[in-house]
This record gives sequence, structure tokens and C-alpha cells, in this order.
Amino acid sequence: MEMESLKELYVDELKDLWSAETQITKALPKMIKAATHPQLKKAFNTHLKQTERQIKRLERIFKELDESPRGKKCVGMEGLLKEGSELIKEKPEPDVLDAGLIAAAQHVEHYEMAGYGCVRTWARQLGEERHAELLQETLDEEEQTDRLLTDLAESSINIDAQTGSDDEEDETPSRSRSNGKKQTARKSASKRAAAPSDDDDESMDVDSDDEMVGAGSNRDGSM
Ligand SMILES: [Fe+2]
Repeated sequence: MEMESLKELYVDELKDLWSAETQITKALPKMIKAATHPQLKKAFNTHLKQTERQIKRLERIFKELDESPRGKKCVGMEGLLKEGSELIKEKPEPDVLDAGLIAAAQHVEHYEMAGYGCVRTWARQLGEERHAELLQETLDEEEQTDRLLTDLAESSINIDAQTGSDDEEDETPSRSRSNGKKQTARKSASKRAAAPSDDDDESMDVDSDDEMVGAGSNRDGSM
């Protein structure tokens, strides 16, 4: 598609978001099944219902624009969701998996927040005030979800995961090797859970989680 106007870019990004949301509704049931912590399961469940409403909101906008939501695949979201499903396949310890699932979900939320921030702004610039309101509603929900995930990470889930990671750091290299694949899976999940990480190997400490809160730094979702 050759893009010549902001309006075309707006429609294109809306299609991208519709594709992203649709992919999320397919991935969330797997994340609900994989999560151990009841509060995390509940948070994913709530977000699944919310996502279905967000799709409806986008479809309302498409109807008003007399455009179809179809025709574009959000490859960014496809990649993010693939990272989550690869984590699940690695079968880390349950607490580590929960921490990794939170991190995966926060990556998704931030991607969405960037997209909704853009289309909300473009809607205003194009004089589509009603669209802007609908898109802002979704943006607010994504931010709430992101904050909820941060709260869960800070409350207990990552701390439970840290206990597992400390045990692992006491291992001698030869013992780690003897534990084979499981060790590797746990370690890589720990790294992911602490994102964004620096080169510090003690990546599961609580201070790192504080940085993860920073994950929610773009609170207003603006461009
Ligand atoms: Fe969403």
C-alpha cells in the first residue's frame, strides 16, 4: 500500500492494532493455562475479556471509516507473542515461568501503548474526536494492565522466582551441567523476567524489579 496521507497511515496503523489484538486473544488462553499464580491467571483472564472489547472498539472505528480491519498482519506482535510461547516451551520452574510471563505480557502492553498513543494523536489531528476518545479508553486500559502486572511482579511472584535463581547461583559449573536442559531454561527465563537488564548477573534482585516498573514509564502513552 502506497501511503500518501496521514489518514492512510492512520487506517494502516488501526489495521495493525486490530491484527495485534486478534493475535493476543489467541495467545492469552495459552498464557492463562501456563500461569501458576492465581492472581496472574486472573489478571490474564480479565485482560482477555478487555481485549475482546478493545477489538469491538476498533471495529466501530473501521465501520465509521467505511474500511475493513483486515488485510494487515502485525508482525511486531507476532514476534512478541512468539517469545512468550517459546518461554512456555522451555518449561522453567513455575515461579520463574510466572515472572517470565509477566515480562512477556508487559512487552505486549508497551507495544500496544505505543500504537494506541500514535493513533489517538493522529485521530485528534484528523479531527476524529470520537475515535480519539475510544482509542484513549483502550490506551487507559492497557496502562492499567501494565501497572497491575508491575504490582504482581513486585508483590510476590518475582520474589518467589528469585529464591529459585539464588539456589541456582550456588551451583558449581559441573553441577549445573549435570542438570542439563532444565538449568538452561531456568536461567534464560530468569534473565527475561528481570528485563530490562544490565549486565549484572544477579538479575532477579528487587531493585531490578524497580527498573521493570520503569517498564511503565510512558504513563500518558503519548508519542
Ligand atoms: Fe489490547
